[in-house]
Amino acid sequence: MQAWVESDPLLGPVVVSTEQLSARIGDLGREITKDYEGRPPLLVGVLKGAFVFLADLAREIDLPIELDFMAVASYGSATKTSGVVRIVKDLDIDLTGRHVIVIEDIVDSGLTLAYLRKSLLARGPESFAVCSLLLKSGQQRMNFEVDYVGFEIEPLFVVGYGMDVAERYRNLPDLRVYLGGEPE
Ligand code: IMP
Ligand code: MG
Repeated sequence: MQAWVESDPLLGPVVVSTEQLSARIGDLGREITKDYEGRPPLLVGVLKGAFVFLADLAREIDLPIELDFMAVASYGSATKTSGVVRIVKDLDIDLTGRHVIVIEDIVDSGLTLAYLRKSLLARGPESFAVCSLLLKSGQQRMNFEVDYVGFEIEPLFVVGYGMDVAERYRNLPDLRVYLGGEPE
Protein backbone atom coordinates (compact mmCIF):
# COMPACT_ATOMS: atom_id res chain seq x y z
CA MET A 1 0.00 0.00 0.00
CA GLN A 2 1.08 3.55 -0.74
CA ALA A 3 2.89 4.98 2.33
CA TRP A 4 0.79 8.16 2.53
CA VAL A 5 -2.36 6.05 2.97
CA GLU A 6 -1.15 4.35 6.13
CA SER A 7 -0.02 7.64 7.66
CA ASP A 8 -3.23 9.63 6.97
CA PRO A 9 -5.14 9.94 10.28
CA LEU A 10 -8.41 10.70 8.46
CA LEU A 11 -8.47 7.31 6.75
CA GLY A 12 -10.26 4.60 8.71
CA PRO A 13 -10.73 0.88 8.19
CA VAL A 14 -10.96 -0.77 4.80
CA VAL A 15 -14.62 -1.27 3.83
CA VAL A 16 -13.97 -3.19 0.61
CA SER A 17 -10.51 -4.55 -0.24
CA THR A 18 -8.86 -4.60 -3.68
CA GLU A 19 -9.31 -8.38 -3.80
CA GLN A 20 -13.04 -8.10 -3.02
CA LEU A 21 -13.39 -5.34 -5.61
CA SER A 22 -11.78 -7.31 -8.41
CA ALA A 23 -13.69 -10.52 -7.60
CA ARG A 24 -17.07 -8.77 -7.47
CA ILE A 25 -16.42 -6.68 -10.58
CA GLY A 26 -15.54 -9.89 -12.43
CA ASP A 27 -18.95 -11.29 -11.38
CA LEU A 28 -20.77 -8.15 -12.48
CA GLY A 29 -18.97 -8.24 -15.83
CA ARG A 30 -20.03 -11.84 -16.41
CA GLU A 31 -23.61 -11.10 -15.39
CA ILE A 32 -23.85 -8.11 -17.75
CA THR A 33 -22.19 -10.11 -20.56
CA LYS A 34 -24.87 -12.80 -20.18
CA ASP A 35 -27.80 -10.36 -19.86
CA TYR A 36 -26.77 -8.28 -22.89
CA GLU A 37 -25.71 -11.00 -25.30
CA GLY A 38 -26.70 -9.95 -28.84
CA ARG A 39 -27.44 -6.35 -27.78
CA PRO A 40 -24.19 -4.68 -26.67
CA PRO A 41 -24.83 -1.87 -24.17
CA LEU A 42 -23.74 1.73 -24.06
CA LEU A 43 -22.08 2.31 -20.69
CA VAL A 44 -22.69 5.81 -19.36
CA GLY A 45 -20.15 6.70 -16.67
CA VAL A 46 -21.14 9.37 -14.18
CA LEU A 47 -18.07 11.56 -13.59
CA LYS A 48 -16.00 11.83 -11.66
CA GLY A 49 -16.53 9.16 -9.00
CA ALA A 50 -17.33 6.25 -11.33
CA PHE A 51 -14.20 6.51 -13.48
CA VAL A 52 -12.17 3.79 -11.74
CA PHE A 53 -15.09 1.35 -11.44
CA LEU A 54 -16.07 1.96 -15.07
CA ALA A 55 -12.52 1.32 -16.30
CA ASP A 56 -12.38 -2.02 -14.50
CA LEU A 57 -15.96 -3.11 -15.22
CA ALA A 58 -15.77 -2.26 -18.95
CA ARG A 59 -12.85 -4.68 -19.33
CA GLU A 60 -14.80 -7.49 -17.65
CA ILE A 61 -17.67 -7.24 -20.14
CA ASP A 62 -17.09 -9.57 -23.07
CA LEU A 63 -19.18 -7.63 -25.61
CA PRO A 64 -18.46 -4.80 -28.08
CA ILE A 65 -19.71 -2.07 -25.74
CA GLU A 66 -19.83 1.68 -26.36
CA LEU A 67 -18.82 4.26 -23.75
CA ASP A 68 -19.83 7.78 -22.92
CA PHE A 69 -19.64 10.10 -19.92
CA MET A 70 -21.80 12.59 -18.07
CA ALA A 71 -21.03 14.91 -15.22
CA VAL A 72 -23.61 16.24 -12.81
CA ALA A 73 -23.46 18.69 -9.93
CA SER A 74 -25.99 18.90 -7.14
CA TYR A 75 -27.11 22.24 -5.87
CA GLY A 76 -26.23 22.91 -2.26
CA SER A 77 -23.93 20.61 -0.33
CA ALA A 78 -21.84 18.03 -2.16
CA THR A 79 -23.05 15.10 -0.08
CA LYS A 80 -26.50 16.01 1.23
CA THR A 81 -28.19 15.99 -2.11
CA SER A 82 -31.43 17.86 -2.63
CA GLY A 83 -32.19 15.87 -5.75
CA VAL A 84 -31.92 19.02 -7.80
CA VAL A 85 -29.11 18.26 -10.18
CA ARG A 86 -27.49 20.18 -12.98
CA ILE A 87 -25.91 18.42 -15.98
CA VAL A 88 -22.40 19.85 -16.21
CA LYS A 89 -21.24 17.65 -19.08
CA ASP A 90 -23.80 15.98 -21.28
CA LEU A 91 -23.44 12.86 -23.42
CA ASP A 92 -21.97 13.01 -26.91
CA ILE A 93 -23.99 10.01 -28.11
CA ASP A 94 -27.69 9.94 -29.03
CA LEU A 95 -29.53 7.36 -26.89
CA THR A 96 -32.24 6.49 -29.39
CA GLY A 97 -32.47 2.72 -29.78
CA ARG A 98 -29.52 2.04 -27.47
CA HIS A 99 -29.24 -0.29 -24.50
CA VAL A 100 -28.07 2.10 -21.81
CA ILE A 101 -26.42 1.12 -18.53
CA VAL A 102 -25.63 4.01 -16.22
CA ILE A 103 -22.50 3.32 -14.18
CA GLU A 104 -22.45 4.98 -10.74
CA ASP A 105 -19.97 4.90 -7.89
CA ILE A 106 -22.45 5.05 -5.01
CA VAL A 107 -26.17 5.40 -4.45
CA ASP A 108 -27.06 7.04 -1.16
CA SER A 109 -30.50 8.73 -1.22
CA GLY A 110 -30.73 7.89 -4.91
CA LEU A 111 -32.02 11.37 -5.70
CA THR A 112 -29.12 12.17 -8.04
CA LEU A 113 -29.78 8.95 -9.89
CA ALA A 114 -33.55 9.57 -10.01
CA TYR A 115 -32.93 12.86 -11.75
CA LEU A 116 -30.45 11.34 -14.22
CA ARG A 117 -32.75 8.43 -14.94
CA LYS A 118 -35.66 10.69 -15.77
CA SER A 119 -33.54 12.82 -18.04
CA LEU A 120 -32.05 9.83 -19.91
CA LEU A 121 -35.33 7.90 -20.22
CA ALA A 122 -36.82 10.91 -22.03
CA ARG A 123 -34.25 10.42 -24.82
CA GLY A 124 -35.73 7.18 -26.12
CA PRO A 125 -33.26 4.41 -25.23
CA GLU A 126 -34.28 0.88 -26.22
CA SER A 127 -33.59 -0.24 -22.64
CA PHE A 128 -32.28 1.34 -19.47
CA ALA A 129 -30.50 -0.09 -16.43
CA VAL A 130 -28.32 1.15 -13.58
CA CYS A 131 -25.17 -0.44 -12.18
CA SER A 132 -23.73 1.02 -8.98
CA LEU A 133 -20.60 -0.20 -7.24
CA LEU A 134 -22.02 0.70 -3.82
CA LEU A 135 -25.45 1.05 -2.28
CA LYS A 136 -25.79 2.55 1.19
CA SER A 137 -28.15 0.40 3.19
CA GLY A 138 -31.52 1.83 4.10
CA GLN A 139 -30.94 5.33 2.69
CA GLN A 140 -32.82 5.20 -0.61
CA ARG A 141 -35.63 7.63 -1.29
CA MET A 142 -36.24 6.84 -4.96
CA ASN A 143 -39.00 4.63 -6.35
CA PHE A 144 -37.00 2.22 -8.54
CA GLU A 145 -34.41 -0.48 -7.97
CA VAL A 146 -30.73 -0.42 -8.89
CA ASP A 147 -30.36 -3.29 -11.38
CA TYR A 148 -26.75 -4.24 -10.59
CA VAL A 149 -25.15 -3.57 -7.18
CA GLY A 150 -21.55 -4.35 -6.33
CA PHE A 151 -21.75 -4.09 -2.54
CA GLU A 152 -24.34 -2.95 -0.05
CA ILE A 153 -22.52 -1.04 2.70
CA GLU A 154 -23.35 0.60 6.02
CA PRO A 155 -24.28 4.28 5.68
CA LEU A 156 -20.79 5.60 6.45
CA PHE A 157 -18.86 8.11 4.36
CA VAL A 158 -16.34 6.22 2.23
CA VAL A 159 -13.48 7.27 -0.04
CA GLY A 160 -11.18 5.62 -2.56
CA TYR A 161 -11.49 3.70 -5.80
CA GLY A 162 -12.71 6.84 -7.57
CA MET A 163 -14.54 8.46 -4.65
CA ASP A 164 -13.25 11.63 -3.06
CA VAL A 165 -13.35 14.30 -0.43
CA ALA A 166 -12.47 17.64 -2.04
CA GLU A 167 -10.82 15.77 -4.96
CA ARG A 168 -8.54 13.70 -2.72
CA TYR A 169 -8.40 9.93 -2.24
CA ARG A 170 -9.68 9.00 -5.70
CA ASN A 171 -6.51 6.97 -6.35
CA LEU A 172 -6.81 4.75 -3.27
CA PRO A 173 -6.92 1.18 -4.59
CA ASP A 174 -9.51 0.12 -1.98
CA LEU A 175 -12.50 1.67 -0.20
CA ARG A 176 -12.04 3.12 3.26
CA VAL A 177 -14.07 4.90 5.88
CA TYR A 178 -13.38 8.63 5.94
CA LEU A 179 -13.03 9.78 9.56
CA GLY A 180 -13.12 13.52 8.89
CA GLY A 181 -16.93 13.69 9.04
CA GLU A 182 -19.25 14.25 6.10
CA PRO A 183 -17.79 17.04 3.97
CA GLU A 184 -20.12 20.00 3.35
P1 IMP B 1 -27.45 10.56 -3.59
O1 IMP B 1 -28.09 11.51 -4.56
O2 IMP B 1 -27.84 10.84 -2.16
O3 IMP B 1 -27.67 9.11 -3.94
O4 IMP B 1 -25.91 10.88 -3.60
C1 IMP B 1 -25.09 10.34 -4.52
C2 IMP B 1 -23.79 11.11 -4.69
O5 IMP B 1 -23.29 11.67 -3.45
C3 IMP B 1 -22.76 10.12 -5.14
O6 IMP B 1 -22.77 9.97 -6.55
C4 IMP B 1 -21.49 10.71 -4.59
O7 IMP B 1 -21.00 11.68 -5.48
C5 IMP B 1 -21.91 11.38 -3.31
N1 IMP B 1 -21.71 10.47 -2.15
C6 IMP B 1 -22.67 9.93 -1.36
N2 IMP B 1 -22.14 9.16 -0.40
C7 IMP B 1 -20.79 9.21 -0.58
C8 IMP B 1 -19.68 8.60 0.10
O8 IMP B 1 -19.79 7.85 1.09
N3 IMP B 1 -18.44 8.90 -0.39
C9 IMP B 1 -18.24 9.70 -1.47
N4 IMP B 1 -19.25 10.28 -2.13
C10 IMP B 1 -20.52 10.04 -1.69
MG1 MG C 1 -21.61 9.66 -8.30
